[in-house]
This record gives sequence, C-alpha cells and structure tokens, in this order.
Amino acid sequence: MSSHRIFTAICLLLLLACSCKKEENKTDFCPTPYNLVIPRYFPTQLNIPSDNPLTEEGVALGKALFYDSSIRGYIGDNPDSMFCCATCHVPSAGFDLGAGNPHLRNGKPVGVNGTSPAHNAMPLVNLVFNNEGYLWNGTTKSIEEIVGAAIQDPNELAATPEKVVAVISSQAAYRAMFKAAFGTEEVTMNRIEMAVAQYLRTLISANSKFDKYLRGEEQLTAQELRGYVLFSTEEGADCFHCHGGAGTPLFTTHLFYNNALDAHPEAAGDRFSVTGDAADHGAYRAPTLRNIEVTAPYMHDGRFGTLDEVLQFYNSGLQNSPYVHPYMHKINDGGACLTPSQLADLKAFLLTLTDEQITVNN
Ligand code: HEC
Ligand code: HEC
Repeated sequence: MSSHRIFTAICLLLLLACSCKKEENKTDFCPTPYNLVIPRYFPTQLNIPSDNPLTEEGVALGKALFYDSSIRGYIGDNPDSMFCCATCHVPSAGFDLGAGNPHLRNGKPVGVNGTSPAHNAMPLVNLVFNNEGYLWNGTTKSIEEIVGAAIQDPNELAATPEKVVAVISSQAAYRAMFKAAFGTEEVTMNRIEMAVAQYLRTLISANSKFDKYLRGEEQLTAQELRGYVLFSTEEGADCFHCHGGAGTPLFTTHLFYNNALDAHPEAAGDRFSVTGDAADHGAYRAPTLRNIEVTAPYMHDGRFGTLDEVLQFYNSGLQNSPYVHPYMHKINDGGACLTPSQLADLKAFLLTLTDEQITVNN
C-alpha cells in the first residue's frame, strides 16, 4: 500500500463525511472522518456505502451497541441480560462463535429465545473487503441490513424496533452519542444499523504471523513453510483457488462453492436459494481462513468441531455429487490423500493465520 493510496482513501472519506447537509435543527454538523488504514497487500475496493461513511463518532457508537444488550431492547439482571451481538460474535474467537461458547449447541449458536438460526455463525473480520455478498449464501451486500435482521431475528436477538429504540433513547449517554454521530439525539433503527455497520467495517485482521512473514518481519518455520506450499499448490492440498493465499491475503475469494461436503447437498438456505442456478446446490461462501484456529465450529452447519476434523474431510472424506465445484480437483480420489506428516504441516500453516491483535484488542 503506497502512502499515496492511503492519502486518496482518507481524502475520499473526508469528502464523504463532510458533505454536511444543513437540515433543520442540524447546522454545521460535521463528525470526524475515521481513518481506516488499509494494510499492505490488501485490496483497496471497499464496501462502504456512500450514504454511510465511517466517522469516529459513528464507529464509537456502533462499538458500544455491539457489546450492549440495549441493542435488543433490554436492560436487566437475569443471567442473559448481557446477551448481545458479541455473544455469538466473540472477539477472542475472531468475532465468530468459538468452541467453548456456552451458546453453542449442535454446531450452531443458540439465540436469546433458546432456538438456533438455520446456520452456524460467521467471523466478522475484514467484512469491508467483501463486495460479493454477505452471509453463507450471499443474500445481501449490505451490513446495515444484516444488523437490523439480527436484532429482529427470533433465533438471534429477538427484539422489536420499538423496544430497541425505547431502551436506547432512554439512556442519556446514548442520546449524546447519537447526536455526535448523526447530528441529533434521535434514535432510529436506521441509525443503529448504520453505526453498528460502521464499527464492523473497522474490524480488519491483518497481523497474524503469516502477515508478519509477508511483511518480512518474522520467519515461518520449515514445517509452516511446507504447509504453505501444500496449501498453495494443485499437486499439494489445493486449497488456494477458493481460500486465497499470498496473492489474496483475505484467505477467501468471497465466492460460493460446493466443496463436496454431502452426496445429496440440496438444502434450503444454500447459494441455489439465492441464484436459482442448479450448479449452486450445496454451495456456500468460502469463509476466510484467517483466525481459523479459534473460529470453531466449522462449515455452514457447524458439523466439524475441530480443525483436525476439517482436515480429515478434505484429505479423505469428499462426497461426490453433480454439484461439486470444478476446483475440487481431488474429488475422484476422495480427497488430497496427504500423509499424516503432510497434514500436520498443512495444519501448522493454518495456525499461522491467527491474529492475536484482532482477537484481544477490539
Ligand atoms: C444467536 C447468535 C447470533 C447473534 C446474537 C448475532 N448473530 Fe450475527 N450471525 C449469526 C449467524 C448464525 C450468522 C450466519 C447466518 C447465515 O448466513 O445464515 C451471522 C452472520 C452475521 C453477519 C454476516 C457476516 C458475513 O461475513 O457474511 C454479520 C455482519 C452479523 N452476523 C452481524 C451481527 C450483529 C451486528 C449482531 C447484533 C445485532 C449479530 N450478528 C448477532 C449469529 C448471530
Ligand atoms: C472449491 C473451493 C474450495 C476448496 C478447493 C477448498 N475449500 Fe475450504 N471451504 C470452501 C467452502 C465453500 C467452505 C464452506 C462450506 C460450507 O460451509 O458448506 C469451506 C470451508 C472450509 C473451512 C471451514 C471454515 C469455517 O469457518 O467454517 C476450512 C477450515 C477450510 N475450508 C479449509 C480448507 C482447506 C485446508 C482446503 C485445502 C485442503 C480447502 N478448504 C479447500 C471452499 C473450498
């Protein structure tokens, strides 16, 4: 990333943030543009809608809401009074569910009502670089929309907009934050969605051991390097077409594939349910492999509890069907057929993708 590009990005944000409209009771409102630093090697095409530029005030508000049960219209002292977005998107689990999560049941999170969403949760890092669609099946390209849906989903926060707006606007501290972020104290669902989406766009994970290796700051061990080669070659484990690598450091293409999990993969909620294209039966978005060490359980239905189970699947458990993506080159062998020591190498490489900075520092 050249300083020129950073400069251009900052200017753009400034321009967007300071197009201050002089509305009634809202003069000279100009919040501080948030300086989103794009790490070296990362793509520069950001998914930031022009009507919701990042501001310091908006991000601070969104962060407060993300960790607060006020976002489901609740203040109380029962055991679940802390239930909020971060219950299912835990920072120490790369903003995913995480293996030890008390709200994990049968591979899926359990919402505030005790029922589970149709799918496993997803990690909320590097969302700002995704221009292909969010959620497992890519239903939407709008984080704002997902925030509103998560608040109201009976299997997640199960709130009503009326309750949420009432509880948040009853708190003076929040009213002040809304004023700082949006110019007036008014609390609306739209503003809540905008603020939380802003915060989520700032969650950039780019400081794993592998990133330090790319930046020349740290060396990988011989085993990790062997794993990296396996990951990135067709004759090896052949993971890179869908999960990226050095040239695609997000460790996902953000695209949708059937990765041979099931012989009969037709299921509600897959990519086919969005596109209607028969080739998309059983296809889901390839998740990022960043922080994969801590984001268990794995796959759209959370069927694998450990990384070892995932690796066994790719090594010898592939299930053929008419919908398997052509990038699954090992399908006719049932998997990558690596030796135990090669599998250990591949795993060692995957463990270099853990970014302690994002997991402890947000
Ligand atoms: C009960 C657990 C639960 C709670 C609480 C929850 N989520 Fe989620 N989240 C999920 C699940 C499950 C998915 C994947 C849904 C799917 O694709 O079917 C998800 C996906 C997402 C995604 C999409 C990520 C991507 O890369 O596509 C975003 C953004 C998100 N959640 C934000 C939030 C926000 C903001 C809140 C609080 C308002 C929240 N979630 C609360 C379980 C939860
Ligand atoms: C054809 C594209 C493709 C290839 C090749 C591929 N994957 Fe995946 N991978 C996916 C998709 C799609 C998913 C999600 C599937 C689902 O949930 O139904 C996934 C899921 C995963 C997950 C679970 C992620 C999570 O957060 O749940 C891991 C770990 C993973 N892959 C590792 C690998 C490794 C290691 C390789 C190489 C041996 C590999 N993948 C090869 C497409 C691919």
